[in-house]
Amino acid sequence: MEHSIALVTGTTSGLGYAAASLLAIKGYRQVIVTGRSLARVRETAAQLAAETKTQVFTPLELDLDSPTSVQSALAELVNQGRPIDFLLLNAGLVPFKKRVLTASGIEASQAPLIGHHQLTVGLLRANLLSPNARIVIAGAEPARGGVPMFKYTDVPAFAAKYHRGDRSAAVEALIRNGPNVKYVPNNAYADAKLIIAWWVAALARRLPSGMAVYAVSPGGATATKVVRSAGPLLKYLFIPIVNLIPGMNQTPETAARRYLQASEFGTDVSGQFFASAQGKFSGPIEAQRHPHLHDRDNQESAWMAVVKVSGVDLSYAASNASS
Ligand SMILES: NC(=O)c1ccc[n+]([C@@H]2O[C@H](COP(=O)([O-])OP(=O)(O)OC[C@H]3O[C@@H](n4cnc5c(N)ncnc54)[C@H](OP(=O)(O)O)[C@@H]3O)[C@@H](O)[C@H]2O)c1
Repeated sequence: MEHSIALVTGTTSGLGYAAASLLAIKGYRQVIVTGRSLARVRETAAQLAAETKTQVFTPLELDLDSPTSVQSALAELVNQGRPIDFLLLNAGLVPFKKRVLTASGIEASQAPLIGHHQLTVGLLRANLLSPNARIVIAGAEPARGGVPMFKYTDVPAFAAKYHRGDRSAAVEALIRNGPNVKYVPNNAYADAKLIIAWWVAALARRLPSGMAVYAVSPGGATATKVVRSAGPLLKYLFIPIVNLIPGMNQTPETAARRYLQASEFGTDVSGQFFASAQGKFSGPIEAQRHPHLHDRDNQESAWMAVVKVSGVDLSYAASNASS
């Protein structure tokens, strides 16, 4: 793919910053970098320009917790009028010790997906993704299970118990962290990343045929600020222990390279979730085969819940979509 225009969310620290830098070095003509405040993301863009000795960075204000901010960012992109080739939906967080809800009543670690969905649908509606665009969204290994201290919800069982089998209502309850959802920060994170994996599969079925979308776990990169809001057990016990095990941690640059690697995958693997091998947080990425990730009911229920919570659907584009 011609290296032209990329948009990276969450660039004010960590992997988004590292990815934006790598994209400039790779030769992208324009890298739109987003952050919650314009002042801060302007500083980020200036720092990236100085570090990479390129002038390709365009700062854009984007607070994914705020539908108004997403709309303003979309309006600016419409104004600019140039289609994006690589949309990197990187922003995310391990949630706070105490439950935090956004003004729209969305649990904080779920909110980036809702904002990313509004952004992606807005770009598709405005024809601002190029015909062969690649979309990558940050996933994480807890979505497939087997990560100590993180447990995702068994959505079919939760739906059967509290929502008469309606999985979409169950996913909506997870996104809003209630009713009948006990707030456990690490589990909220696992659920947020699981819903991302399902959303990607459902979006892939709705994209025009040349485009593709993947969920990609960057793997362990504990030098970023990702656990800044997490509780002490994760920060001061789990992560230091993981750091002692060879091959469980990597630099932010190595982790961010996974996003760029996926940006060159084909449409044949669109909709899949790529992560480290089982039991690892570094090394090569592979498509995840766990049955709960591939359950079509779960995927479509997650899509419907995200559409309901975000208030935007992709029905217009479905007519052009691959089946
Ligand atoms: N590092 C790891 O070990 C690891 C492992 C697996 C997956 N991940 C995923 O990788 C992604 C990047 O994490 P990171 O390690 O680079 O963490 P980080 O250093 O904390 O960077 C996260 C970025 O996302 C932004 N962000 C978060 N929520 C946002 C929102 N609602 N609206 C707008 N911007 C928002 C942050 O901006 P503010 O500073 O303004 O909050 C920041 O720029 C996340 O999705 C994370 O879940 C990381």
